[in-house]
Amino acid sequence: MDFKSLANEYQTPLYVYDFDYMKAQFDELKEAFRGRKSIIAYAVKANSNLSVVKHFAKMGSGADCVSIGEVRRALLAGIAPYKIIFSGVGKTDDEIREAIEKDILYINLESEAELGRVELVAKELGKQARISIRVNPNIDPKTHPYISTGLHDNKFGVDLNSAKRMYIKAKNSENLDPVGIHFHIGSQLTELDPIRESAEIVADLVRSLQALDIELKFFDIGGGLGVKYKDEETIKPYDYAQAILGTLTAMDMTILCEPGRFLTANAGYFLTKVLYEKQNGEKKFVVVDGAMNDLLRPSLYNAYHGIEAITDNTEDEREVDIVGPVCESGDFFAKDYKLPPLNHNDLLVVKSAGAYGFGMGSNYNTRGRSAEVAIEDGKARLIRRRESFEDLIALEQEFLEN
Ligand code: LLP
Repeated sequence: MDFKSLANEYQTPLYVYDFDYMKAQFDELKEAFRGRKSIIAYAVKANSNLSVVKHFAKMGSGADCVSIGEVRRALLAGIAPYKIIFSGVGKTDDEIREAIEKDILYINLESEAELGRVELVAKELGKQARISIRVNPNIDPKTHPYISTGLHDNKFGVDLNSAKRMYIKAKNSENLDPVGIHFHIGSQLTELDPIRESAEIVADLVRSLQALDIELKFFDIGGGLGVKYKDEETIKPYDYAQAILGTLTAMDMTILCEPGRFLTANAGYFLTKVLYEKQNGEKKFVVVDGAMNDLLRPSLYNAYHGIEAITDNTEDEREVDIVGPVCESGDFFAKDYKLPPLNHNDLLVVKSAGAYGFGMGSNYNTRGRSAEVAIEDGKARLIRRRESFEDLIALEQEFLEN
């Protein structure tokens, strides 16, 4: 990829996404579940740019959404309503109402209290709401605690007994139609055993529900497939699919899978320009024009992103901290990272930035968010323009008079 010309044409900081890579990832996962009814429901939160979601819509993807905003995005981008699911621990009545009216595949319930709200709202609308229940299998996924979700210590899902009670309630309700079961134990998973164990626990629950005449159609295995940021051993989609399918013998359910990171992380690059180098005592810093408001993962999770320098300098590499202009010591992309000496306007390419990159951005320090560019079939096109100062003040300016 010619990052230098992209940076010249679209300026920096800039997000660049390889759409062909996203498609290859999608195809590999879909292929892994071949011979079985399956829906891949792209987790919109990973990268919610409309053109990205539309790209997946064209592949026949569904969407996993966690706010009504994401549901609207998915619909606008052309995802079929019957492939959209709506999850999240705290949905408002308005969100629930709109999801039922839009006739999406199902609402994923995360508590008994929520079941009550959804039933009430469906009743008011004179409708039956399709639901699934997120089961918390109490399995340690062995990932970063901030993105681990399948333990009872986490706020997500309900335990097995509550789930059973909820299914019985739903079955007996005129306004609820239990169609699915769901689990998601965490993100950036690199070990298969916790996934297999969770699937076994949830499949057993499905069997005990069958004995109660509750027949579910969708077995939703969440997202979480990890990717290579540095030297991680990742799970192969084929092995993943086999592990899941192995727990579902003699069960005719459609598999629903909600990958985000797997589809987009390594399709994305964040381009930022070197402003200058500086030295504080022993420590050397490279100050760049991108910052934590553009890509938060290093600051928030101490996450590793590979960084490549595009420079004419050929001198020996040294260890540097790569930092942005934001007024926080946590504003860095990497610490003690080996790079050659850099000049003003040299380019740094921050890799694996396609998932949870732009979407977790903000306007902190009154910095406009970067532009986003798609590369497809060797051609580049803008899919979000750079935010201007006028954009940033647009929602406040009218109140200046008061
Ligand atoms: N399904 C559910 C219910 C989820 O909560 C998530 C992610 C996904 C699917 C998609 O997971 P993935 O396939 O992308 O691992 N901001 C963090 C990641 C947060 C993940 C939240 N849930 C990061 O930058 O690493």
